[in-house]
Amino acid sequence: MTSTKIAVIGGSGIYDIDGLEGAQWTTVETPWGAPSDAILTGSLGGVEMAFLPRHGRGHVHSPTTVPYRANIDALKRLGCTDVISVSACGSFREEMAPGDFVIVDQFIDRTFAREKSFFGTGCVAHVSVAHPTCERLSDACETAARETGVNVHRGGTYLAMEGPQFSTLAESNMYRNSWGADVIGMTNMPEAKLAREAELCYASVAMITDYDSWHPDHGEVDVTEIIKTLQGNAANARDLVARLPALLGATRAPCPHGCDRALEYAIMTSPEA
Ligand code: ADE
Repeated sequence: MTSTKIAVIGGSGIYDIDGLEGAQWTTVETPWGAPSDAILTGSLGGVEMAFLPRHGRGHVHSPTTVPYRANIDALKRLGCTDVISVSACGSFREEMAPGDFVIVDQFIDRTFAREKSFFGTGCVAHVSVAHPTCERLSDACETAARETGVNVHRGGTYLAMEGPQFSTLAESNMYRNSWGADVIGMTNMPEAKLAREAELCYASVAMITDYDSWHPDHGEVDVTEIIKTLQGNAANARDLVARLPALLGATRAPCPHGCDRALEYAIMTSPEA
């Protein structure tokens, strides 16, 4: 058994953790540059926690310029074992309504202007991301979300787009009708892939803020609508995070799905090279 350390990467609408004991902002250096911001560390219910504002305090990083590699590396260096992403998303499904939470389990990665791997020249590795989120951690997020009373959808395919502009109507219809995506956002990739390379369990709580632009009864998405829905949901998101320590516990066994051993059969480069 090892100690649990829960990392929360908060998107728009969540900027710290309520009731954190011994809370302090820590600056972490990484070979990949500086993370989005300092990291808030402390403990909650006897479990170590870390919080990183994905866009930085004051929302200074766009989805493209978020330093994803530095963020994941910094959390790893702090000893985090589990990473929970909290982010906003648009919905492609009538039944997945603004205000609902989705525990995402699949991704379609359409981002193209971001560094996506810790591996390259010198050390080549290919990890599996067939199942990009951790079932055990997603179970805890689902339970925590249900306990808050919010409407929760377990499982959903998240289309990660580059942005920063929202999708055209043609794109929105294609993602929804032909590609089978359920929700759309700009930040969960390459975050999920990097967490797997770093052998960290990763789960994604996507908070629906809009129907993107496909819905005939709703206007096209804009930032005012997103912020309004997020503000209405911030208390639920914070409540969800506060429930995680009790659900995950202060110690953990090896991940039953192997997230913490993802590199075991992934490295191609010879140790002598
Ligand atoms: N984040 C919140 N809503 C979104 C949308 N419709 N498209 C992309 N990212 C989003």
